[in-house]
Amino acid sequence: MTNSGKLWGGRFKGETDALMKRFNDSIGFDIRLWDADIRGSLAYAEALARAGVITADEAATLARGLRAIHAEFAEGRFEVRPGDEDIHTAVERRLKEIVGDVAGKLHTGRSRNDQVATDLRLFCLGAIRDTQQALGELQGALLAQAESHIHTVMPGYTHLQRAQPVTFAHWCLSYFWQFARDVERLDDCARRTATSPLGSGALAGNPFPIDREALAADLGFAAREDELATDERPRSPTIRRGAITQNSLDAVSDRDFVAELLFCCAMIGVHLSRLAEDLIVYSTAEFGFVTFDDAYATGSSLMPQKKNADAMELARGKAGRLIGNLTAVLAMLKGLPMSYNKDLQEDKEPLFDSLDTLALALPVVAGAIRTLKVNPERMRAGLDPAMLATDVAEYLVRKGVPFREAHHLSGRAVALAESKGVRLDELEITDWQAVSPHFDEDIARVFDFAQSVASRDVDGGTSPRAVGEQIRRARRCLDRRAQAASC
Ligand code: ARG
Repeated sequence: MTNSGKLWGGRFKGETDALMKRFNDSIGFDIRLWDADIRGSLAYAEALARAGVITADEAATLARGLRAIHAEFAEGRFEVRPGDEDIHTAVERRLKEIVGDVAGKLHTGRSRNDQVATDLRLFCLGAIRDTQQALGELQGALLAQAESHIHTVMPGYTHLQRAQPVTFAHWCLSYFWQFARDVERLDDCARRTATSPLGSGALAGNPFPIDREALAADLGFAAREDELATDERPRSPTIRRGAITQNSLDAVSDRDFVAELLFCCAMIGVHLSRLAEDLIVYSTAEFGFVTFDDAYATGSSLMPQKKNADAMELARGKAGRLIGNLTAVLAMLKGLPMSYNKDLQEDKEPLFDSLDTLALALPVVAGAIRTLKVNPERMRAGLDPAMLATDVAEYLVRKGVPFREAHHLSGRAVALAESKGVRLDELEITDWQAVSPHFDEDIARVFDFAQSVASRDVDGGTSPRAVGEQIRRARRCLDRRAQAASC
């Protein structure tokens, strides 16, 4: 195909080198923007008609053609041609085939620069909703496990050393809230993404009187009252107004929303990875706290006895590429001169990869959690009375000893038990009283894990009462999201 047939072919005489064409084409990956691209063009045709640039009949013809192309994509009938450089040129080429020369009017005042920025924002908004939905499923799985294990006591760790007893419900919910923050972060990212760059042209703005706020509203970008235009230009009071970008140079070169979404994905990846790491450790024979369902484990080709936590290892491993994709886009952006540069085409593959990675990882991890078998006896066996050394100190505090001194005395008791080769709860009353006269027979009552857990009863603590309240809040948080998603 000669360059003269291309959208930009007018000034060219020579042909594009074959490898250069492969290097330049983005249709191989940006074809995924087809729905966003057609939605953007439908709204833009309408805006052109409203501005009097094309007639209502022409707009209707364009819309009919665009809908036909939409159907071809939706039904898998769209055929990419060798000359199609990217999704934008492919749709325009097909539009001309369907409606004839009037197709050439659609791009009036528009550039692929404001077009691709618009498409990508529309695409990201859909992807954000899907990711939030998948996060909700995972949160639901964690919450269901929490609800069945309010009284299941396990060792809590700091530095991966046994620290204090907690409940398994409390552990599950600790991840629930991480993912709740991810959902919120995505909301925040969506708010900035839902801003229309359309009408910015190549870099300097559109020369035709396009009502950008009306166009933005048609695209579904909600208006933010404080940012609406305040000038005197006549605007129809019946037309809804949406959020638009404020500077055409910035509009076509801004990919902050891609970087932000990739950060959200990377953060989710880090959360998944930490959850996975815990469960990998907890599922070892040495711990035995949990057992993965066969549906989420795999075996070894050599060692017949093996059952590996591959789902979790992959979830942990994928965090690497999620972080990598964010880094790739930030590095691509950092040296760009104002405004559009072709480097920006490199935003899409990392973005798609992160979204695809999570679209698979989130439901797999949710499934693994939902089907996880919890072994409360093994958790109990992992408890050591020394984990109640803090409770011993608190016992002394309740007898009026200042905490610093109480901490020291409890430490002396731990050392004494160690030197005698007995467990902390096996010290004799005489041993305790040798450490401090404040110790009484009732020290024996401290050695009760369930009671230790119950005593941490502040909001956000591990006591069954506090965890019950936490569960109610978590449930409300999920219900609110489900309601918001269905409106
Ligand atoms: N495929 C391009 C991209 O992803 C579309 C914009 C092309 N613009 C241009 N001036 N060549 O960024």
